[in-house]
Amino acid sequence: MRALAHSALRLALITATGACASSGSSAPAPATFTEIYAGLFPVNTKSQCNFCHSLPPNNKSNGNLSMGSERSSAYAALKGKLSASTGCNGNPLIVPNQAENSLFFRKFLENPGCGGQMPLGGDVLTDAQREMVRSWIAAGAKDD
Ligand code: HEC
Repeated sequence: MRALAHSALRLALITATGACASSGSSAPAPATFTEIYAGLFPVNTKSQCNFCHSLPPNNKSNGNLSMGSERSSAYAALKGKLSASTGCNGNPLIVPNQAENSLFFRKFLENPGCGGQMPLGGDVLTDAQREMVRSWIAAGAKDD
């Protein structure tokens, strides 16, 4: 009976510690679009978005998603816009607060649901890079 009470106490302690560790106070701040752009877009290599998406709209080279070569033009091409590509036509590029419904997040997954994984033919995004995009959309996809 004593042993049983002892293990019940231990369980209670472990549970309390776990609850403490997962409390929101230490959650990292969401990424900004400025950080995402700097990490993913500007360098002219096949792993970076501008390699294809700064070109004029064309279904073959960028799925008609032309984002220019500046942070502001990229944001303007994404926020509130629908896909005009053959494979993903009509799907929203960004749904604020819903990364899983946003092509600008889904296209980085192994199975994006339509079309290919981005960056097409380049290095797959790291978990940390995907998390930056997810956290930015989850926080409202602001022009920050
Ligand atoms: C080598 C060229 C290439 C690179 C590099 C590339 N893309 Fe793409 N992207 C395409 C093509 C082609 C399509 C259309 C076909 C498809 O959906 O697979 C596309 C489609 C997309 C779409 C969906 C567009 C729509 O309206 O349906 C998004 C979003 C996207 N890319 C984002 C990115 C981002 C962000 C990067 C950088 C991390 C990137 N791409 C890198 C060629 C590229």
